[in-house]
Amino acid sequence: MAKTIAFHLQKGGVGKTTISGTLACQSAINGHNTLVIDCDPQGNLSSWFLTQPPKYELSDVLQGKCFVEEAIIKAPELGNLSILPTFGIGGTLKNYSETKLAEEPFVIQDLVKDVSENFEHIILDLSPGLGRLERSALIASDEIITPMTPEVFSLDGLEIFIDELGKLKKNMRSSVKHNKIIINSFDERIRQHRDIFRAAEESGRFAVYKIPVDPLFRKAQEASKAPQQFKVRGRGLKTKTIQAIADLDNSIWR
Ligand SMILES: Nc1ncnc2c1ncn2[C@@H]1O[C@H](COP(=O)(O)OP(=O)(O)OP(=O)(O)O)[C@@H](O)[C@H]1O
Ligand SMILES: [Mg+2]
Repeated sequence: MAKTIAFHLQKGGVGKTTISGTLACQSAINGHNTLVIDCDPQGNLSSWFLTQPPKYELSDVLQGKCFVEEAIIKAPELGNLSILPTFGIGGTLKNYSETKLAEEPFVIQDLVKDVSENFEHIILDLSPGLGRLERSALIASDEIITPMTPEVFSLDGLEIFIDELGKLKKNMRSSVKHNKIIINSFDERIRQHRDIFRAAEESGRFAVYKIPVDPLFRKAQEASKAPQQFKVRGRGLKTKTIQAIADLDNSIWR
């Protein structure tokens, strides 16, 4: 049975896709059979890893237009990583989520159950927001980990998420765990970043992790590569970024 993790906060641009993709690569590099499901109609994660347009996408599976096995594809260059993609352009996930999903809130949970025997680790990448699609992905997960950026309103955004998640769990009788947060794009030299990290830790409610700001993430995404395997002029991820990824990888799959 796979463990399924969603990295989520309703806010946009906090690093959900970067962290989902990077930790999926790390899991695959470590030899675990890993699946990422691209639940974001923007399809950012799919266009990061796939250089060829796939035949089927997630919403085809959800609508019974193909078998899940037909839609899952291997990431080129990373043997243990598989992707259930979403087409950013010309895709049908947005339309599906706005029409049919209302009648089938457990459809992603059922899908995860179906593939759970075939993988050790499953990661869901979600779009910003807390609409039907994100809710159905959240309740399909064993654990939700919240990435946030060290900005003035980020702790407010976290409070809103905790509140909404509490209601969702009650309504859907879900026991999904939510006790880890990641301060992403962290810069030790910036006082505000250190203050936000400390405030998050002092709240005592979460294990708090950080991922340093590292330009290699964006460059690896542009080059359709795993950040761990990508170099620009001989330089890869910073040592402290590699350490941060290793720390997270060590604790999230337990
Ligand atoms: N630690 C980091 N250091 C430097 N750049 C980063 C880092 N994390 C993410 N980025 C960059 O920030 C941008 C936003 O990241 P990402 O797309 O992962 O956010 P997101 O939360 O998935 O956004 P959306 O809400 O649109 O789905 C991307 O260009 C990405 O390369
Ligand atoms: Mg994203």
